[in-house]
Amino acid sequence: MAKETLPSIEKVTDEPTGNGAADGGGNGTATLSAPIPEDYAASENIVRVRGVKRIYYIGSNPVHALRGIDIDIRRGEFMAIMGPSGSGKSTLFNMVGGLDKPTEGTVFIDEVDIAQLDPGELAWLRCRKIGYIFQTFNLIPVMTALENVTLPMIFAGADLDEQMERGRRLLELVGLGHRMMNKPGELSGGQQQRVAIARALANDPAIILADEPTGNLDQEVGEEIIQMLKRLNKESGVTIITATHDDKMYKRADRVAVVLDGEILDIVSPDEIGDHTVDGFKTLKERKAARDAAEDPEGSVAAAATTM
Ligand SMILES: Nc1ncnc2c1ncn2[C@@H]1O[C@H](COP(=O)(O)OP(=O)(O)O)[C@@H](O)[C@H]1O
Ligand SMILES: [Mg+2]
Repeated sequence: MAKETLPSIEKVTDEPTGNGAADGGGNGTATLSAPIPEDYAASENIVRVRGVKRIYYIGSNPVHALRGIDIDIRRGEFMAIMGPSGSGKSTLFNMVGGLDKPTEGTVFIDEVDIAQLDPGELAWLRCRKIGYIFQTFNLIPVMTALENVTLPMIFAGADLDEQMERGRRLLELVGLGHRMMNKPGELSGGQQQRVAIARALANDPAIILADEPTGNLDQEVGEEIIQMLKRLNKESGVTIITATHDDKMYKRADRVAVVLDGEILDIVSPDEIGDHTVDGFKTLKERKAARDAAEDPEGSVAAAATTM
């Protein structure tokens, strides 16, 4: 891969620049050879998911993990995906992150249908445009914090000086300037997740996918992680998509997509969620059915049936 200069991370620590929507793409605006419309201008929606289904098979038994997902995520948005365990959140993340392919439907990142990318382009997208944060941190145990953070930069072709300089600054940014040479096993859970955040930022991604990033952390530490993600979102305009059970997390989101049984029940503002309970989900499901019925009397029987 051709060597490219890593972009500055100054903007992360700069004063907020509005909602960052205009320039929040980071290096993600670099070109792909996949088809991009001639008149393409940075779309308001950095992610568009259309009719995405994912069926897994256990033996010959199908598991309908996603049953036709449609969602648009705006550039610079902090979007929470909320739903009980098994509802399809991680599967959706795998689709958006290009880690797995839909059985049906399309994922557009910056208006590029990622199924059309060749393996090299997909690797570029995953390396440069998306940062991943997982519940279990997924750091490499034999590497130091600094090596974990610089690893994606190696894949992106940065030279050693650049890796070191940027790796140090990212670890300082997440408050771990004093722990750079520690290996994951020598760090607390919260510190490991901060290393993972720094690693996710390694190549200045346009999007961060955080799959239950506070799931393995106690409340207080989880709160710190959320605040850090929120700050990055506000100050650098990076689009954050996070799966969560954590009410602190979804309350800080711009919008919350409520997922149940592989479907999006509704997309609401955090204060519309109400109690984060099964009853709360049922209420949303009923509300959606009622709204669908009002909009589409023909479909009302089918919609009502899903709430039974
Ligand atoms: N590799 C797989 N093979 C078979 N079934 C899977 C696989 N991954 C996930 N599933 C199933 O798909 C559904 C959605 O899972 P997942 O996306 O992990 O949900 P969540 O992240 O919301 O807990 C669940 O029923 C789960 O058991
Ligand atoms: Mg999951």
